Amino acid sequence: MKIVAFNGSPRGTGGNTHVMVEEFLKGAEKAGAETENILLTKKEIKHCQGCFGCWLKTPGKCVLDDDLEVLRAKFLESDIVVFATPLYLSNFTGLMKNFLDRLYLPFLDPHIKMDEKGETAHPLRYAKFPKYVFISNCGFAEQTQFELLSRLFREIVESDDDILAEIYRGEGGLLTVKEEAFQPILSNYKELLRKAGKEIVENRKLSEETASELEKPLIPYDMFLKISNKTLDEL
Ligand SMILES: Cc1cc2nc3c(=O)[nH]c(=O)nc-3n(C[C@H](O)[C@H](O)[C@H](O)COP(=O)(O)O)c2cc1C
Repeated sequence: MKIVAFNGSPRGTGGNTHVMVEEFLKGAEKAGAETENILLTKKEIKHCQGCFGCWLKTPGKCVLDDDLEVLRAKFLESDIVVFATPLYLSNFTGLMKNFLDRLYLPFLDPHIKMDEKGETAHPLRYAKFPKYVFISNCGFAEQTQFELLSRLFREIVESDDDILAEIYRGEGGLLTVKEEAFQPILSNYKELLRKAGKEIVENRKLSEETASELEKPLIPYDMFLKISNKTLDEL
């Protein structure tokens, strides 16, 4: 099984998203998957020009020359793709959005069909598409912060059945905190992420227990407020 992660954080390996992706992939590897972690910030990804060349001029191929061609091939070769992004204004980062625009448009046949929800949609050019895992973290505390992001991810995939897991982490700034006292909490959460990676490879879904543990706050909200504001005051 091949799993490729696309991380849309501009902070790359220094970011909180990276911590989540790395641990998830470690668990997946341990369960036998071949994994690759791609940092979009290291890639040349031009903006979609909206020329529809990939539909009408060179069907299935973008007219722009940059890293997207290789990334698109990696996407299609995967059994599972992880889209990972920090929450920016309740949404993907611009980097991730730019990537998704460029990734998907050449996959679509310009004709219009009625989809399974009874809505107009474009058919896909390829029969085999990967399944998905979505990963995100954000600066605020509550898991409800991810509601819009989840909705947006669901809009871009063909069917909700293609989504194997959504792993979201409020209080995300804590993931890269170095303080000694916090390390046991972090270590527990990382272990949970590795367990999630393993379960996805072995069962193609999260167990109810893992899914529920992943939703719990790292620390109580009142403590989170205290630590966050103290850290800010000390900067
Ligand atoms: C431009 C910008 C917009 C952000 N918008 C939100 C937001 O809407 N909600 C939130 O909880 N955090 C928001 N954040 C905080 C990030 O989600 C948070 O810092 C996250 O840990 C960054 O992940 P990274 O280190 O992987 O880049 C925003 C940060 C930036 C820079």
